[in-house]
Amino acid sequence: MKNVMITGASSGIGKELARIYALSGANVALTARRTDVLRGIVEEFRDAGAKGNVVFDTLDVSDFERNFIVLPKLIRELGGLDTIVLNAGISTSSSFGGRSFEADKKVVETNLIGAMAGVEAVLPFFQKQKSGQIVAISSVASFRGLPGSGSYSSSKAGLSTYMEALRSEVKKFGVKVTVIHPGFIDTPINNRMKSRPFVIPVELGARKIHKRIENEVLSATVPWFPWAILGYLMKRIPEFLWSKINPK
Ligand SMILES: NC(=O)c1ccc[n+]([C@@H]2O[C@H](COP(=O)([O-])OP(=O)(O)OC[C@H]3O[C@@H](n4cnc5c(N)ncnc54)[C@H](OP(=O)(O)O)[C@@H]3O)[C@@H](O)[C@H]2O)c1
Repeated sequence: MKNVMITGASSGIGKELARIYALSGANVALTARRTDVLRGIVEEFRDAGAKGNVVFDTLDVSDFERNFIVLPKLIRELGGLDTIVLNAGISTSSSFGGRSFEADKKVVETNLIGAMAGVEAVLPFFQKQKSGQIVAISSVASFRGLPGSGSYSSSKAGLSTYMEALRSEVKKFGVKVTVIHPGFIDTPINNRMKSRPFVIPVELGARKIHKRIENEVLSATVPWFPWAILGYLMKRIPEFLWSKINPK
């Protein structure tokens, strides 16, 4: 039976992905900051027929040292680990000039450094086991610096780049690395935004992400269309056009 751990599993993509794994019989470990919400989700999954072991613990991924305590403890409770999904993330509306520095710092600490701590906390286990899969939930926002999203875009670009370097280094241990770049998926992180082009329901998004993870893809946009094409263009459009499309 597969053992899966998901950070940021109290809401949105993480919760729906956890549901898919739990209802397919996997053993699942959930982490997030809101303990009561996680407790309720475990009960919800059990009521819905989860057959495997579903465990949880409170973890703020930006409390870096806690990753090294909580994640190994959950691996022991699950009885092993095959896949970790580094999904915990936040977004903020950035504005340059110092007015959003503290919020911007928190975005990078959560989305990038929190995920790095997660990698370091589980990698010794995977290296010893000579197998394992590390999945990072990045974003199409990583493809180019988006006006108003400087910290979010750069945290996700950093995450994607970090995962590329990781992939090359851990291949020799039999460890796989998958990077998912979601477009807009309907979750609390974005449901107050005025514009969410090509948004898809979270259940559909989680199913597509699950499929990509199980296929052990190196990286993928979700959904593939239109984001694979838009992503290609986002990286290549000349600056004068980019600033016309994205005035701020
Ligand atoms: N939805 C989209 O359109 C979209 C697009 C691209 C990428 N993404 C990425 O997908 C991931 C999941 O986001 P979502 O859309 O599912 O949003 P969400 O519903 O707001 O979920 C975010 C999750 O992250 C957890 N989290 C936030 N800060 C945390 C911290 N410091 N430590 C631990 N957990 C933390 C939250 O739980 P607690 O509050 O309980 O800690 C929650 O479970 C994020 O990395 C996001 O950037 C989403």
